[in-house]
Amino acid sequence: MSDDRPLIGIDVGSSTVKVVVAVPEPHRLVVKGCGEARHDGARKGIIANLEEVTAAVRIATEEAEAMASIPVTHAVVALGGAPVVGKKSCASTPVTGRNLTVSNDDVNLALSRCAAVMIPEDYRVLDIIECGYALDGQPGIENPEGMAGRTLEASAYVLFTTRAHFDSLEQSVNQASVAVTSLQYEPLAAAEAVLSPDEKELGCMLIDIGHATSEWVVWSEGMVQASGTYPIGGRHFVADIATVMKTNTAGAELIKRSVGVSLDRHDLDLLGIEVPTLGGHGNQIADGRLAAQILYERAHELFVGIAKNLSELEMDRTPRAGVILTGGGARLEGLDGVAETIFAHHARIGMPRNLAGEVEPVAGPEWAVACGLIRLAHKKKQGPMERKQLEGGIFNRLRSALGEIFEFGGGNDLH
Ligand SMILES: Nc1ncnc2c1ncn2[C@@H]1O[C@H](COP(=O)(O)OP(=O)(O)OP(=O)(O)O)[C@@H](O)[C@H]1O
Ligand SMILES: [Mg+2]
Repeated sequence: MSDDRPLIGIDVGSSTVKVVVAVPEPHRLVVKGCGEARHDGARKGIIANLEEVTAAVRIATEEAEAMASIPVTHAVVALGGAPVVGKKSCASTPVTGRNLTVSNDDVNLALSRCAAVMIPEDYRVLDIIECGYALDGQPGIENPEGMAGRTLEASAYVLFTTRAHFDSLEQSVNQASVAVTSLQYEPLAAAEAVLSPDEKELGCMLIDIGHATSEWVVWSEGMVQASGTYPIGGRHFVADIATVMKTNTAGAELIKRSVGVSLDRHDLDLLGIEVPTLGGHGNQIADGRLAAQILYERAHELFVGIAKNLSELEMDRTPRAGVILTGGGARLEGLDGVAETIFAHHARIGMPRNLAGEVEPVAGPEWAVACGLIRLAHKKKQGPMERKQLEGGIFNRLRSALGEIFEFGGGNDLH
């Protein structure tokens, strides 16, 4: 399949919309432009004011278009937040291919049966992630096509979300005159940008710390094992500082970015950050040690909360390749150290990797989702032979088998 259109990713976050435009070249993806626009149209990670979000999509898109000199007419868009739920699922089907070998249709049918998990009314499937196959009870098969057997069993991780969440995101992008080619789960997009195949294989946990929420996904043996959303993001750190230190949001943001969460930082007592006093009564000098203590408590709560979620799923051991923190919230200085104490494992900050081009801003962790969308868009464009060598979603393969589940409104151009 040849498609020379540029690759465009739009991350509609709770605080900003980020757009990345790239073009594929042999053996590399070249970022040509990016755009970013702040907005106040989301509450708790959900679109609360469509107009505001649409306006931000428009501004960020125009900025990216101008930088790249490429029109943004279509995009892969990320979706996340508490309304997205993931479930492991298994389903089997008799093998019907010639000479009892597994056909493409058999694989599609087994996967589509995985999607028939019990999902509440008003939810729809967002994605189905292949997690391996078994043939006649023999597990550990990555690609069963062409193999002989009688019964094919597929394992998958099925992501679904509310129709309202799905539709409002799609609307916000459509109304900015951009067609949505597919919706992807935010932390899986971030993972595309920041994780190495080794980390997924050995097992790791990615945490995308955004403004309103933090999303986590656990991999083991290259497969997604679990995912979830924890209702703490960067804005909670700011709110704590503003409340305790009696300053406004801008002052609290400044304190957060200047101080970080390392309680053993040697210059904590020397840090005096001048910020406005709440109520407009002049300025005050914020106490660095107190600020660090407040931020540390929030970070502790965030990671302990996620660790609890994992233990509820009986996943008590942190995967071997440790914890990767990404998203704008991961910029909080010293946060990796706090994660290491709670998860008792190595933690690192995940930055977008392996993208060419001289668009410097997209190097930061807050760009992980948008950059990952570019990679996912690129994978979808590749032919089957190339795609087989890559891990990831199976949106294309299932598009035909699951037309009605994946259907998009608004007469969009699906590729
Ligand atoms: N240098 C920094 N230190 C600490 N926090 C930072 C820094 N830079 C950005 N942040 C925080 O990152 C957060 C925004 O991150 P990001 O852009 O990933 O969020 P989002 O995608 O808009 O939100 P969400 O993922 O929750 O929908 C803000 O809360 C901001 O305060
Ligand atoms: Mg985000």
